Amino acid sequence: MMIGKKLYQHIHWLVIVLLLSLSASRGYSSPAKGGRIRCLEREREALLKFKEELVDEYGRLSSWGTHEDKKDCCTWKGVYCRNHTNHVIELDLLGPSDYYGYSTAPLRGNLSELQRLSVSGNSMLTSPNLNWLSPLHSLRYLDLSYVNLTFATDWLPIISKLTRLQVLYLSYCHLPPLVDPLPSMANASNILSVLHLVGNNLSSSSVFPWLFNFSSSLNYLHITCNNLQGPIPNAIGNIALLEELYLDENQLDGGIPSSFGNLSSLMYLSLSDNQLTGTISGLLSSSSLIYIDVSNNIFNGTLTERIGSLSELEYLDLGTNRFEGVITEAHFFGLSRLSQLCLFYNLDISFNFSSRWNTPFQLTYLGLRDCKLGPHFPTWLHTQKELHYLDISNAGIHDSLPD
Ligand SMILES: *[C@@H]1O[C@H](CO)[C@@H](O)[C@H](O)[C@H]1NC(C)=O
Ligand SMILES: *[C@@H]1O[C@H](CO)[C@@H](O)[C@H](O)[C@H]1NC(C)=O
Ligand SMILES: *[C@@H]1O[C@H](CO)[C@@H](O)[C@H](O)[C@H]1NC(C)=O
Ligand SMILES: *[C@@H]1O[C@H](CO)[C@@H](O)[C@H](O)[C@H]1NC(C)=O
Ligand SMILES: *[C@@H]1O[C@H](CO)[C@@H](O)[C@H](O)[C@H]1NC(C)=O
Ligand SMILES: *[C@@H]1O[C@H](CO)[C@@H](O)[C@H](O)[C@H]1NC(C)=O
Ligand SMILES: *[C@@H]1O[C@H](CO)[C@@H](O)[C@H](O)[C@H]1NC(C)=O
Ligand SMILES: *[C@@H]1O[C@H](CO)[C@@H](O)[C@H](O)[C@H]1NC(C)=O
Ligand SMILES: *[C@@H]1O[C@H](CO)[C@@H](O)[C@H](O)[C@H]1NC(C)=O
Repeated sequence: MMIGKKLYQHIHWLVIVLLLSLSASRGYSSPAKGGRIRCLEREREALLKFKEELVDEYGRLSSWGTHEDKKDCCTWKGVYCRNHTNHVIELDLLGPSDYYGYSTAPLRGNLSELQRLSVSGNSMLTSPNLNWLSPLHSLRYLDLSYVNLTFATDWLPIISKLTRLQVLYLSYCHLPPLVDPLPSMANASNILSVLHLVGNNLSSSSVFPWLFNFSSSLNYLHITCNNLQGPIPNAIGNIALLEELYLDENQLDGGIPSSFGNLSSLMYLSLSDNQLTGTISGLLSSSSLIYIDVSNNIFNGTLTERIGSLSELEYLDLGTNRFEGVITEAHFFGLSRLSQLCLFYNLDISFNFSSRWNTPFQLTYLGLRDCKLGPHFPTWLHTQKELHYLDISNAGIHDSLPD
């Protein structure tokens, strides 16, 4: 993972922004104008009780109040109501970490129409169980990232009952290991599309069987930085609509399952920082790939020229592996969009480009440290006008440095 982190975060935000803009067009009102109070009494009461529990150090909820001109809870910051029914359907309490410490008990029952709930970023919040979520059966979007769920052993049975959930963020929650028997979601309408479980020490045997219940709906799956061990299950190929798959920073071993060829919508793939072996040719039929990061594994074998047919590819990081063989112009034949390329520390890769190579791409990032690039300075580098980063150290070049 050389340059992956930044882009990864970027993608994360992109998803959020996208969701926010989608929901904006789905008929919520943001705070209303005029004197009419739209807010439902019992929902206002529930929110006020909720506020009482908060440590609102930064006055972020100063718009939440009992004063006459603050009565309409639909105008409160972070609260969104549906236009015609006036039910509170979204609570957005995203904040920097250590923002609040609070109990979620007052939300219980009285906000049954709530569709979106974000309390991410509140690392002081500890929830000993997730019972309080059960009545919120309208939830479609739930973000509890960074909430300490160490003791919430019921998290999976509870979440499994939220059958309208489309987006679920449970990253860095210190999720406890799953206990048998795991609930089945086979009855649910299976509409979960976005699942983030980053940084939770989850094992393969606990998380994979469960998530295959969503094979027909998952588009984004992020399980970076967990305790996934053993091979990547072949059933991953059944998640037919998968567009983003992040399994980096785990202890996965074995090869790329043959079923990867079925992931025809896959655009972003990171398998970096595992112990994966064998070749990556199993990836090369996923022709929609934009982003591939398989760095820091023990992949080996010769890179085939088929990689040059991934015409959407913008980012390719094969660094710190054991690839071998000669890389030629044919490997880059169709890569007209490629902008970031890293082959660091593949000691047995060498290059043979003609001095007149007309590259199909303009790179911004090129890392070929410790590859066999020389002995001559590669003339095609002169054609790369947008380079921001270049590392060709220890690449066997014995030549005078051009201007
Ligand atoms: C909801 O109300 C807001 C503010 O009054 C308005 O701008 C918006 O168009 C309404 N949306 C729908 C779907 O009626
Ligand atoms: C929910 O609303 C009812 C009726 O307003 C109220 O009696 C009850 O205490 C509320 N529950 C919570 C947990 O606030
Ligand atoms: C999570 O909460 C429990 C109980 O409050 C606490 O013992 C534990 O240290 C917390 N974990 C982290 C990482 O903050
Ligand atoms: C799931 O479906 C089966 C068979 O239709 C039924 O027996 C079972 O009660 C359902 N489970 C849930 C949790 O709805
Ligand atoms: C992660 O889980 C394993 C068991 O699955 C456990 O042995 C290990 O201590 C856990 N690590 C942390 C940091 O909680
Ligand atoms: C659904 O999840 C349960 C619990 O993890 C698992 O036993 C079952 O095989 C899964 N079903 C499907 C169709 O993936
Ligand atoms: C790919 O999908 C087809 C149809 O769903 C299936 O028959 C085939 O076994 C799958 N291939 C692999 C390698 O899983
Ligand atoms: C690649 O790695 C595998 C597993 O470690 C090994 O069996 C195989 O011989 C290696 N192939 C080459 C060409 O080095
Ligand atoms: C490099 O490629 C040229 C043209 O394909 C070929 O003639 C030459 O033998 C190659 N050199 C090496 C060292 O592979």
